[in-house]
Amino acid sequence: MASSGAQSDPSPETILVTGGAGYIGAHVTAALAASGRSVVVLDDLSTGTADRVPDGVTLIEGDVGDAAVVGAALHDHGVTAVIHIAAKKQVGESVARPLWYYRQNVTAMATLLEGCVDAGVGRFLFSSSAATYGMGSGGVIEEDDPPRPINPYGESKLIGEWLLADVARATGLRYAALRYFNVAGAVSPELGDPGVFNLVPMVFDALTRGERPRIFGADWPTPDGTCVRDYVHVADLADAHIRALDALQATGGEVTPEADAAETVDGLVLNVGTGQGSSVQEVIDAVGRVLGHPVDVEVVERRPGDPAALVASVDRITDVLGWSTSRNLDDMVSSAWEGWLALHPEAASLAE
Ligand code: UFG
Repeated sequence: MASSGAQSDPSPETILVTGGAGYIGAHVTAALAASGRSVVVLDDLSTGTADRVPDGVTLIEGDVGDAAVVGAALHDHGVTAVIHIAAKKQVGESVARPLWYYRQNVTAMATLLEGCVDAGVGRFLFSSSAATYGMGSGGVIEEDDPPRPINPYGESKLIGEWLLADVARATGLRYAALRYFNVAGAVSPELGDPGVFNLVPMVFDALTRGERPRIFGADWPTPDGTCVRDYVHVADLADAHIRALDALQATGGEVTPEADAAETVDGLVLNVGTGQGSSVQEVIDAVGRVLGHPVDVEVVERRPGDPAALVASVDRITDVLGWSTSRNLDDMVSSAWEGWLALHPEAASLAE
């Protein structure tokens, strides 16, 4: 049995975090544990590592798509809320292996949701993505803008939102789908992103190998010609999860059908970004500030499938959760650099 949370809490809760040993999941797990909640992590350790799970948090090594594992995790630990982060998240890989992505991100989520309904779990937070929007409109994106994903990864996340909405309608499950924009940074070096799949680690990686970082196109219709994205610090993102969980509890907590569920369906699809765009060049300039010298780049061809600009409207998350970010691009890049150095000490000589 997991340990209980704060003793004065009249309704102690246990949160199951799927993917809690991964980059984002470990940050969410750490934030939950720091808030005094009882946390259980379910992770297959395919990309996550056990050492990222804090002391006092139970780690179950298993697959979200395994009904027996899910059922045992939920029942044995008296889980009251689930934060579903475990997923595959590489766009290119999803194009190459679409059925695998559907199995990992859609079929497994359906299994998890079945288990939640069976166990009477009342609240569910889902890691969705700005990839549900596809190319966007070129400006600030609102949650009600039409979702037009352009790859199986984005499609799988959108289907995940549909699964949730349908289950909520049928059972009264309360949920929030958090559409992450571009996540970067780390709360401590040991929780840095070990993957080299996104701009900031790819810049560090190129520099560490003695190469110039590549900019995928400098002829986009943006102020400096490079693509614009909304970068959000992973610690702010983790905080959004805590607030969303609290907001779902504040709206009831009981598993009730019909009207309340319909309200939740519309109300808690939330962009998680800063509302501010940064260009690729601006991110690389921030890397230069952290390293103490300008970074020489190589401009190459545009990357197929990249939108010119993707920036979150944060009006809804500000209104609904009272959440806003407190960390800026330099905080993201400097903390990501510390995380990079923890894994690649040979890169230390790059900084002056
Ligand atoms: N970029 C470069 N050079 C690099 C790496 C990236 O110029 O070496 C550019 C990309 O072209 C893009 C920007 O940096 O303009 C950000 O690229 P990322 O790969 O870091 O992130 P994306 O915006 O392409 O994708 C991110 C997540 C996806 C998610 C998507 C949703 O990584 O999982 O946001 O919009 F689907």
